[in-house]
Amino acid sequence: MRDRDLREGGSRPSGFSRRSFLKGASVAAVGTGLATEALADAAPTDGLIREDGVTTVPKGALEITLRVNGEDVAVTVEPRTTLLDALRDRAGLTGTKKVCDRGACGACTLLLDGKPANSCLTLAWDAVGREITTIEGLADGENLHPVQQAFVECDALQCGFCTPGMVMSSVACLQKHATPTPEQIRHELSGNICRCGTYGRVFEAVANAAKNGGGR
Ligand code: FES
Ligand code: FES
Repeated sequence: MRDRDLREGGSRPSGFSRRSFLKGASVAAVGTGLATEALADAAPTDGLIREDGVTTVPKGALEITLRVNGEDVAVTVEPRTTLLDALRDRAGLTGTKKVCDRGACGACTLLLDGKPANSCLTLAWDAVGREITTIEGLADGENLHPVQQAFVECDALQCGFCTPGMVMSSVACLQKHATPTPEQIRHELSGNICRCGTYGRVFEAVANAAKNGGGR
């Protein structure tokens, strides 16, 4: 996982990650099985059960509501479903890309409560109650977000597969640094990999967007 995610968007109120969830589940299964039993007995309400500050994930399908780009989106997921898969496969929001599916490339970057996060490492149910911003939520009607506009003007893409993640990290960069230095731009985009090698133009686009209110 990227340093940036550990510092910022990767933190989660419940302290869960996809990896820790799967690890915990397997440990429970190998052990007494009591945890599995407890999950099976839990009666779903809004999909999640919160008691004494502890969130329990019921077994089976969960009907949850995600707040995406300012709108409530109802989806049915399994406890193991990632936010990335929930958005792409359940909500039809395919702008967020899946490449490595393991936190290594940044293609799935979106904003969680305004901070960049890898949606392939975030469980869908763990995003309930949080503000999710995807690439689909940036433009204002026909008007591109300044960062999107700068990417177009600087021709900062080739195949485009890394681009949504690059744009979301760039937006987060400019929200953090209104006038970023070249070093700050490189640092904030350090978790995004472009196998076409467009880094130079991406960095140029972020610098240009900063002059045009890209951190709005
Ligand atoms: S798809 Fe999530 S980091 Fe690569
Ligand atoms: S433009 Fe092709 S991977 Fe970045």
